[in-house]
Amino acid sequence: MKRPYVLIVSEVTIDGKLTLAKGVSSKEIMKLMDEEANRYLHQIRAECDGIMVGANTVRIDNPNLTVRYVKGKNPTRIIPASTGDIPLDANVLNTDVAPTVIAVSRKVPAERLEKLKERGAQVVVAGDERVDFVELLPKLYEMGIKKLMVEGGSKVNWELIKNDLVDEIRLIHLPVVVGGDDVPSLVSGEGFKTLEAVKRFKIKRVFQCGNQVITEYEKS
Ligand SMILES: NC(=O)c1ccc[n+]([C@@H]2O[C@H](COP(=O)([O-])OP(=O)(O)OC[C@H]3O[C@@H](n4cnc5c(N)ncnc54)[C@H](OP(=O)(O)O)[C@@H]3O)[C@@H](O)[C@H]2O)c1
Repeated sequence: MKRPYVLIVSEVTIDGKLTLAKGVSSKEIMKLMDEEANRYLHQIRAECDGIMVGANTVRIDNPNLTVRYVKGKNPTRIIPASTGDIPLDANVLNTDVAPTVIAVSRKVPAERLEKLKERGAQVVVAGDERVDFVELLPKLYEMGIKKLMVEGGSKVNWELIKNDLVDEIRLIHLPVVVGGDDVPSLVSGEGFKTLEAVKRFKIKRVFQCGNQVITEYEKS
């Protein structure tokens, strides 16, 4: 089954954190990103057919996921939310600016599904309990999403990497340390635990971009 080329792109601190504290929007730490880094990020958005963030990122950050720092077409926003539980006034449900797909599991209440459709979102069902990415990705490919950018958060990143669905990782390193045991880092989940099991990537490119270092990795 064909699936989209999957590219994780994320801003991380020196200590690999995605945000300042658990439950806190990453919009705060992203204020550290300079114009050059924002252009790098938005150029990738413009080159992708789809952009995915997890339901928790929508609940916490309320992102728009549109192209702003460069000229280009907004990608289709794809939000895995097993029961469709995202606020109905979320920015991603402003479907006048870009199309939105909400990926749900078969557990989604029918009434919720209707409300999401009323907001102009397309709903795709994949998985019984939670959204099943192995089932979802070929469906997205069929819908024309050949290149999919994933902007987190850590739970969605884990699920995709665990299932061997990630082709590339690009990181924008912010030169700060945040610390904190429970602050989400790039990938969460149960972890691979052994050297044999870790998912390996090889370095593709490393360069400085304004006040950030960018590292790009591809599947080994
Ligand atoms: N620095 C950055 O680049 C960046 C980018 C994005 C986010 N963030 C930060 O990351 C944090 C949120 O990350 P997070 O890890 O808590 O959440 P997340 O990965 O954004 O979203 C996880 C949610 O997605 C839904 N989901 C549906 N199917 C899933 C599956 N099979 N596997 C995993 N999730 C599935 C679940 O919600 P349901 O139970 O409703 O289905 C789950 O709780 C926020 O603080 C945000 O600010 C930072």
